[in-house]
Amino acid sequence: MKRTKIAGIGHYVPEQVIANSELEKLMDTTDEWIQERTGIQERRFGVRHKETTSTMGAEAARKAIEDAGIDKEEIDFIIFATLSPDYFFPGCGVLVQRELGISKTEIGALDIRNQCSGFVYGMSVADQFVRSGMYKKVLLIGAEMHSMGLDFTTRGRNVSVIFGDGAGAVVLQPTEDENQGILVSKLHSDGREAEELAFISPGCHGGYHGEKEKYGFSDNPFDTVFITQQMVDDALIYPNMNGQHVFKFAVKKFPEVIMEVLGEAGYKPADINLLIPHQANLRISQFVQRVLKLNDDQVYNNIQKYGNTTAASIPIALSEAYQLGKVKKGDLVCLAAFGSGFTWGANLLRW
Ligand code: ACO
Repeated sequence: MKRTKIAGIGHYVPEQVIANSELEKLMDTTDEWIQERTGIQERRFGVRHKETTSTMGAEAARKAIEDAGIDKEEIDFIIFATLSPDYFFPGCGVLVQRELGISKTEIGALDIRNQCSGFVYGMSVADQFVRSGMYKKVLLIGAEMHSMGLDFTTRGRNVSVIFGDGAGAVVLQPTEDENQGILVSKLHSDGREAEELAFISPGCHGGYHGEKEKYGFSDNPFDTVFITQQMVDDALIYPNMNGQHVFKFAVKKFPEVIMEVLGEAGYKPADINLLIPHQANLRISQFVQRVLKLNDDQVYNNIQKYGNTTAASIPIALSEAYQLGKVKKGDLVCLAAFGSGFTWGANLLRW
């Protein structure tokens, strides 16, 4: 049976380090509060108007292509997962194609809008393409430039202290080895929770579900206003999060979906060599580790250095763990994510 394996991996984080003490200067927060509630010590921010989500994605992609030992022209499909695209449209997939100079073959490019679980969803999508035989070398990127869109005042402190910028990428290709590659993927969502963690505006809906009068939108089909002053005043132009609600959902759904992929493949938590949870919050990862009774060396976390980089967090952590020799051939690796949507999912793979 044909499977899909990771043939190459790489990551890129901007050089600019932003310690918690920098945020203390901008808002009413403390290094102690941030570390205690999230585990984050510092994060990276890209250089304004020089680095973007797609340029960072391209940097990570170059490293993954080099690690795979292939030529960029061998890539036959691009999948790009992000919630912070350079443009409203077109997506970052085509921008990366241009940035890498992959033009000869006019390959397809697909963007995935699944926030923190974007990379896990992308792994599953790539797996379907590869196992069906449609594509042989799929480039999957997760990248985010959060720093361009955060509220750095005290009003936004529960969100803005969490996020950082960065990118990770993998090259996926077929293997005839049944004991290697992606074994199982499970994907879930619950749209009833959509506004609990959301970046509402700008949006094409006229802004906000169910709040037409409050935000002053008319029924006139030629009324093109889609952001009003009231929406700016209500901070709808920034990500909003009901932190405690997200936390409660996350600590339930992470273990559930990890057990689901393990169960389908006939494994139990003790069989995992390395779990890479989406780096949402160190407390969430530690909670999941306790519930599954995993040892410290079975779980890899790096949110302390990079913050939450959403779609990029899993490929950055996996790439770093690989470079540190923490992932070896034959290891059972589990990638699991939960985030806005709500969407969540997991991939179980044999390295
Ligand atoms: N610094 C200081 N105080 C703060 C900060 C801050 N940065 N942020 C919030 N506070 C204050 C609040 O105003 C509140 O004050 P009050 O008691 O006077 O009202 C107090 O701290 C407690 O606030 P809570 O929101 O209840 O704090 P909590 O303990 O829940 O921690 C946190 C907040 C860290 C956001 C937590 O809820 C959490 O981690 N939730 C999960 C969120 C998450 O992981 N999101 C990632 C997913 S991202 C994605 O999918 C795109």
